[in-house]
Amino acid sequence: MCGIVAAAAQRDVVPILVEGLRRLEYRGYDSAGVAVLTGDEIQRRRRVGKVTELDQAILDQPLQGGLGIAHTRWATHGEPTEHNAHPHISEDNLAIVHNGIIENHAELKEMLKAKGYRFESETDTEVVAHLVNDQTKQGKDLLAAVQAAIHELQGAYALVVMSKADTSRLVAARMGCPVVVGLGEGENYIASDVQALLTETRRFQFLEDGDVAEMTVSGVRIFDTDGNPVERKISESSLSADAVEKGEYAHYMLKEIFEQPRALADTLSERVAGNRILEAVFGPKAQAIFEKVKRVHIVACGTSYHAGLVAQYYIEQGAGLPCRVEVASEYRYRNPVVSEGALFIAISQSGETADTLAALRYAKESGYLATAAICNVPESSLVRESDICLMTRAGPEIGVASTKAFTTQLVALALLGVALARHNGMTDRIERAYIRQLLHVPVLVEHALKLEPQIREWAKHFADKRHALFLGRGPTYPVAMEGALKLKEISYIHAEAYAAGELKHGPLALVDAEMPVVAVAPNNALVEKLKSNLEEVRARGGRLFIFADPDAGIEPSEGMEVMTMPDHIEPLQAPLVYTVPLQLLSYHVALIRGTDVDQPRNLAKSVTVE
Ligand code: G6P
Repeated sequence: MCGIVAAAAQRDVVPILVEGLRRLEYRGYDSAGVAVLTGDEIQRRRRVGKVTELDQAILDQPLQGGLGIAHTRWATHGEPTEHNAHPHISEDNLAIVHNGIIENHAELKEMLKAKGYRFESETDTEVVAHLVNDQTKQGKDLLAAVQAAIHELQGAYALVVMSKADTSRLVAARMGCPVVVGLGEGENYIASDVQALLTETRRFQFLEDGDVAEMTVSGVRIFDTDGNPVERKISESSLSADAVEKGEYAHYMLKEIFEQPRALADTLSERVAGNRILEAVFGPKAQAIFEKVKRVHIVACGTSYHAGLVAQYYIEQGAGLPCRVEVASEYRYRNPVVSEGALFIAISQSGETADTLAALRYAKESGYLATAAICNVPESSLVRESDICLMTRAGPEIGVASTKAFTTQLVALALLGVALARHNGMTDRIERAYIRQLLHVPVLVEHALKLEPQIREWAKHFADKRHALFLGRGPTYPVAMEGALKLKEISYIHAEAYAAGELKHGPLALVDAEMPVVAVAPNNALVEKLKSNLEEVRARGGRLFIFADPDAGIEPSEGMEVMTMPDHIEPLQAPLVYTVPLQLLSYHVALIRGTDVDQPRNLAKSVTVE
């Protein structure tokens, strides 16, 4: 994880760097730092904590310069302390910021120590600083030194180096972690993500793995792994700088929850016509691929994994195709057996999650029919490397706890399910009915958002608890899992989700008045069974909080609170709509507990390390 920003300009770059870091905090926020070249001196400020701490440090002790690098950290090697914060400096000659993990850092460290280099941090990054410095001391210029040093590295990195010996340029390199170059007028920038640079430019070039870029105020030269100059396409970003502002909302998470009707409508728009799906939206190769799909394998992490678990229902029950879903960190190391006609689907908000990307790369070598991505970031590695894709159009998601990305993934996966079903015997009539239901989802979500005042009241019952249980059955079981994940992520209350039928096989032993039990109860074929499971909880003195369909026949009574969901939610729509009150519940519980809603402790939005 971690976020990097760098700039070369004929003005002071410190404000550009600090604003960039602020916009990258979603990538990590346990410490931050900046270094600039002032004359031929490297000046550095670093602080533990968020970018505001660094900002204060700069106000207290100003620094300025036309060439600079900056970093916001999510610790992997070494505690979040000031001496582990980036930039790291080698012998006062050069400074470096790095995102990723250098796997062979221990042996490199021994080699460098033997050469007399002193280490001031526990990070793997300092190894790279000394390696590059060592190359410059052998007479290489900064570009050649970085090119030579990265040959020694194993692992993943996005890095930028600044040297006292060359006060006009920065050198960046990418392997496995994102790096984008921003092109300005008489100034240029580098960052982990376009969001960092949107206040400065809309013109970007994305580095590819193995690329090294040399940047000055007047231009950028990019070289591939073999050192040959390469051209990388210049893209114009359509994102606006204020798409990443909070506006009237107290937190990004709340803003993003309320953006869902719009985001869902955007994700559906232009993808259907006449209540039928337009297959071309998956890309030119899609139709030929869909015709041959016999089974589906979905891989993802975190919230995106939960979206995959819902999609399993869309694909098995809707399209009649066998579907397996698993977390990427397990998949990539278990030598999966790939059967003929298997479509691999990776789901990821960021498209940069290290485990998901590694799984995709593994899948590409493993004999799948094709690879598909469901992703929110068009320029991401996942999208670029998959055969076909469908973009969610959630817009930038800043809150670490994923909300609108999840629900837009669900509609995108429902569309994919319908497309696959069409090739597996679904009639036009059913396809039209499904698409009509999907098009109605934004309105249902709008209605579900109106439950907020009641949910705020319910939150009071959770705020002083240490544990909570979430129950669901069928396609709303993954929704319960997502609800539990949201609560633990942002309120630090231990929350577990169970398939309600499993309750009696263990978790019922935990149920008492101190353990609130949340249940999602749409009116589907399983509702009667769910009701029996809820009785099991009530009989043990458990306190139930149920989000129920008006026709589910679940009435409030002693020990059982019931919140009525909007009318007429179809099974296809239920996972989408029932997710919303669970998001609001965790938000309001966290608000009462006073935790950091948008940037919960120990987590990061984009996990680009294994
Ligand atoms: C992190 C985030 C989660 C997210 C997961 C997968 O853990 O905190 O919110 O679900 O990564 O991210 P992706 O970008 O691949 O969906």
